[in-house]
Amino acid sequence: VPSPSTSAIAIIGAGRLGTALGRVLRDRGANVVAIASRNPEYAQRAAQFIGVQPVNIERIPALASRVIISVNDDAIASVAGQLRGAGFVSGPDAPRMALHTSGSRGPEELFALAETGVSTAALHPLQTIPSPERGVECLPGSFFGLCGGATPEAVQWASEIIVLLNGTKLIVQPEHWALYHAGAVFASNYLMTMLDAALEALEIAGIPRDQGLAALAPISRASLENVLRLGPDAALTGPIARGDHRTLERNLDGLAKASAQTQAVYRAVGLRTIEIARRRGLDPHLLRQLERALKDE
Ligand SMILES: NC(=O)c1ccc[n+]([C@@H]2O[C@H](COP(=O)([O-])OP(=O)(O)OC[C@H]3O[C@@H](n4cnc5c(N)ncnc54)[C@H](OP(=O)(O)O)[C@@H]3O)[C@@H](O)[C@H]2O)c1
Repeated sequence: VPSPSTSAIAIIGAGRLGTALGRVLRDRGANVVAIASRNPEYAQRAAQFIGVQPVNIERIPALASRVIISVNDDAIASVAGQLRGAGFVSGPDAPRMALHTSGSRGPEELFALAETGVSTAALHPLQTIPSPERGVECLPGSFFGLCGGATPEAVQWASEIIVLLNGTKLIVQPEHWALYHAGAVFASNYLMTMLDAALEALEIAGIPRDQGLAALAPISRASLENVLRLGPDAALTGPIARGDHRTLERNLDGLAKASAQTQAVYRAVGLRTIEIARRRGLDPHLLRQLERALKDE
């Protein structure tokens, strides 16, 4: 396999993130040259969006020294194997690097490549990207989790990418990567869950979901803004902040009409919310009453 330019980047995975990342990197002057995917039609569409050529994975070793793998988490290891099989290996005069963008898998997922001398790392945007277009808007300025493999070159490259995107780097040790990702799940995915549970309760109370969503917008936006500005301790209001166990009992009575999961979430999240009240110095007697109400003791 001939040696391509050491700066040439190929993307694998024409999904939401791979397409957005390819486009912003290219717009900001990175040497993105090609994109590959499982489905050639999707690769074609993403290539057009980014402004590069669509290719088969087999062509990548001849075109790029650097690869960003942005495929479904379960496919990362097999794509790494495929890339190695195609000849993506490091030589003394031809260093190669590979990143994947998953927060739920560590750099060891790229083992097939690392074994042949390719420097590897996981570079995870701490962002939610529902479409390539939204990704182009919100990737710049994001924070990025970065977890290196055995050699430093890929971490160095990933750091350059973060700088190019005006981002901020969060270095995470491999043994803490799963913990870091759990934090991201709480901060993003579980916010949706909280609102979905709220919509369920409102719907049973006779407020249709679309109206419920509109009704929640001001309170949810203000709550998020408050916690981001003031921190959870200062931002918390409501029955647990006040030490009002009777309201919790009444809420749980009302929720008897809701799903079992929603009732369980109310209790579990309530118990975790008591930790905030404890930090705020709520009276220990009131804390115990709140706990008893949520545990049905
Ligand atoms: N979206 C986000 O908010 C976000 C945020 C942070 C990190 N991530 C991470 O970024 C990665 C991609 O996520 P995404 O949201 O962009 O997913 P996505 O929109 O579902 O796209 C995944 C892409 O991977 C391709 N793919 C799957 N298996 C493949 C294989 N064996 N060979 C080649 N291509 C394959 C699919 O190809 P085809 O379309 O061609 O079938 C698809 O285009 C994941 O690791 C995810 O955890 C995503």
